[in-house]
Amino acid sequence: MAVQSALRIYKDATAIITGGASGIGRALAEELAARGCEVVLADLQLEQAEEVAAAIRSAGGRATAARLDVTDHEEFERLVEETVARTGRLDFLFNNAGISHGMGAGARHYRIEDWRRVIEVNVGGTVNGVQAAYNLMIEQGFGHIVNTASMAGLVPSPGTTSYVTTKHAVVGLSHNLRAEAAQLGVRVSVLCPGVIRTPFIEGGTYGRRVEGVTSEATREMWEQKKPISPEKFARKALDEVARNKGVVIVPGFWKLFWLLFRLAPKFCLNIATKNFKDLGRSPAAVGRTARKGSAAPAEER
Ligand SMILES: NC(=O)c1ccc[n+]([C@@H]2O[C@H](COP(=O)([O-])OP(=O)(O)OC[C@H]3O[C@@H](n4cnc5c(N)ncnc54)[C@H](O)[C@@H]3O)[C@@H](O)[C@H]2O)c1
Repeated sequence: MAVQSALRIYKDATAIITGGASGIGRALAEELAARGCEVVLADLQLEQAEEVAAAIRSAGGRATAARLDVTDHEEFERLVEETVARTGRLDFLFNNAGISHGMGAGARHYRIEDWRRVIEVNVGGTVNGVQAAYNLMIEQGFGHIVNTASMAGLVPSPGTTSYVTTKHAVVGLSHNLRAEAAQLGVRVSVLCPGVIRTPFIEGGTYGRRVEGVTSEATREMWEQKKPISPEKFARKALDEVARNKGVVIVPGFWKLFWLLFRLAPKFCLNIATKNFKDLGRSPAAVGRTARKGSAAPAEER
């Protein structure tokens, strides 16, 4: 009975989902709408977000789309204010938009501007969301901030160093804010997906690849790790969020890796060291690095 009432938490609620035009964000929006929640799909890709919102509406759900760059704090605040003015409340903020950089390649190939961009979007975007919604939720007396980190926020993942840096930061922010927010009537959870079959595993629309690393190579790397569909992820993750779980790991088998890392970090680091294969070691990438004495430029996409 208690489980049933927890799962009804989405009915007649309002949620903003960043990165709602694609992949996990899209699946979360569709599943939330199917459970009776009004959803705002906020994304850099406005046209795609509008298409998803239209599909949700034709399936009987309530959805709108908004253009949002999560790195723009004022824009984020405006979106939250407009949503609350229109719907009267904000029950959920899903800080989900994220990008990858240099997937599969060692940090020696990175440019400083790529480090900065992935930090700006993945960490800065989450911070902007918290700044825009947290105090408002405290005033309301309710609300749930759900940040999408990654398993890469819990365990090492060589070949994804800049991304791992940002996702560990999102996990840290979420743990800490959860402890503070609990006394103020606000909930905080962090989603740690394993590998989910979305455009992200090929680099994503706004992600950057290191020169010499193809989208096929990154897809192949992630396909070995048993990806699941974003729809399956969303169903399971939203059940856990409804139960106010602090850390939500889906698929569940990834929990074993987190447990093992906490029990035997040295052992896990040895395995990770052994498994690291630098996809960025193509002659072009390595040659460029050696010639310039700096990281090879990431591919502009
Ligand atoms: N797919 C996976 O295997 C996986 C695993 C772990 C964590 N994640 C995380 O899940 C989240 C969603 O990723 P996904 O797999 O759905 O990828 P995706 O590429 O399908 O979707 C990401 C969305 O974010 C949007 N976006 C990017 N930069 C933005 C910005 N500055 N402002 C607003 N929107 C922006 C994109 O337009 C896109 O619609 C990310 O935070 C990612 O790090 C994904």
